[in-house]
Amino acid sequence: MDALAQIDAFEAAALAAIAACGDDAALEQVRIEYLGARSGQLKELQAILGKVPKEEKPAVGKRFNEVKTAVTAALDAAKGKAGGSTPVVAAGPGVDYTLPGVRPALGKRHPLMQTIAEFKDIMGRFGFTACDGPEIEDERHNFEALNIPEVHPARDPLDNFYLATARHGSGAARLMRSQTSTVQIRVMESSRPPIRVVSVGRVYRPDEIDATHHCMFHQMEGLMVGTDVTMAQLKTTLRLFAQAYLGADVTVRFRPSFFPFTEPSVEVDMSMDAAGTRWLEIGGAGMVDPNVLRAVGYDPDEFTGFAFGLGVERFAMRRYGVPDIRLFTENDVRFLRQF
Ligand code: DAH
Repeated sequence: MDALAQIDAFEAAALAAIAACGDDAALEQVRIEYLGARSGQLKELQAILGKVPKEEKPAVGKRFNEVKTAVTAALDAAKGKAGGSTPVVAAGPGVDYTLPGVRPALGKRHPLMQTIAEFKDIMGRFGFTACDGPEIEDERHNFEALNIPEVHPARDPLDNFYLATARHGSGAARLMRSQTSTVQIRVMESSRPPIRVVSVGRVYRPDEIDATHHCMFHQMEGLMVGTDVTMAQLKTTLRLFAQAYLGADVTVRFRPSFFPFTEPSVEVDMSMDAAGTRWLEIGGAGMVDPNVLRAVGYDPDEFTGFAFGLGVERFAMRRYGVPDIRLFTENDVRFLRQF
C-alpha cells in the first residue's frame, strides 16, 4: 500500500469511528487512538511520510495535512452533539445560594372540608360530639323511624336515589340518604340520653341543579336529648353557632313549619343584614317527635329532645361570597386556591 492509500485508509477509519461514538467519553477514546501525540495512528502515518520518495513528498505531505485537519474538525464537531457527559450548565462562578428558593406547591383541604372541620369545632365547644352514619341507607333509618309513613310524598321514588338492588328484588330497599336525620336514629338506637351530637355529611336528592341546588350537598344534623331539653335551648344553640361561624351581628329566627320527626317544627332563617330586613333559610329544626323517641325505645314521658338540620353550603357561600353552589364540585383550581 503506498503512502496516499494509507492516508486515505486512516481518514476513512477515523471518520467512521467518530460517527459511531455515542458520547463525549467515547469521542475522547477515538481522539487518543487516532490523533494521540504519543501512540496515535497519526504518529505512525507521520513515520511513513519520512520514507516517501522525494518527488512524491509535496503531494503526500499536502494530503497528510488535509486529513489531519479534517479528522480534527470532525472530532470537534461531534463533541457536545453526542449525549451524555456534557455538562448542561457551564462551569462558571457557581450557584448563588442567596437567591430565594422556589416553594414546592402544596395542596390544601377543600373549602367545604375546611367548613365542616370548623362546624365540628364550634359545636364541640358547645359540648356536641361529632359522629357519622352511612350514606347508603335503609328505609327504616331514612324514613320509618323518623315518623315518615309509607304514603308520605318524601318517599316518592322520583324524589330519592333508590339503589337498583331493591328493584331487582335482592333484599331490602336501599337509597342514598336524603337527609342526615338518619344519624339521629342510629345514635339513639345505640346509646341512652343524655345525648348531644352533630353529624355532618353528604345527602343526595334528584333535584334540578342550579346556582343554589345540587343533587349532592352537605347537612349538619344536631341532636340533643335529655330530661328537660327545651326549644329555647335549640334557638340559643343555633344563634350561637351562626354567630361563631359568621360573626356576632348574625341572628336567627324561627318560622312555624312541619316535619314528621319534630313537634313542634320550625324553619330556621338567618339574618342577612343588620336591620333584619333580609333573611335566608338555613334549615329545619324542632322538638323530637314522641313517635321518633318511641321508635328507638325511649320513653317520651321521660325524655325530650331537640334536633336540627342545616345546609352546610349555605353557610360557606355566605361567608366567602360564593355565588354558585356548583363551584364547590367543579374542581377548578382557580376557585379552590382562594381558600
Ligand atoms: N331533615 C330535614 C331536611 O333535610 C331537615 C331537618 C328538619 C332536620 C328538622 C332536623 C329537624 O333535625 O329537626 O329537610
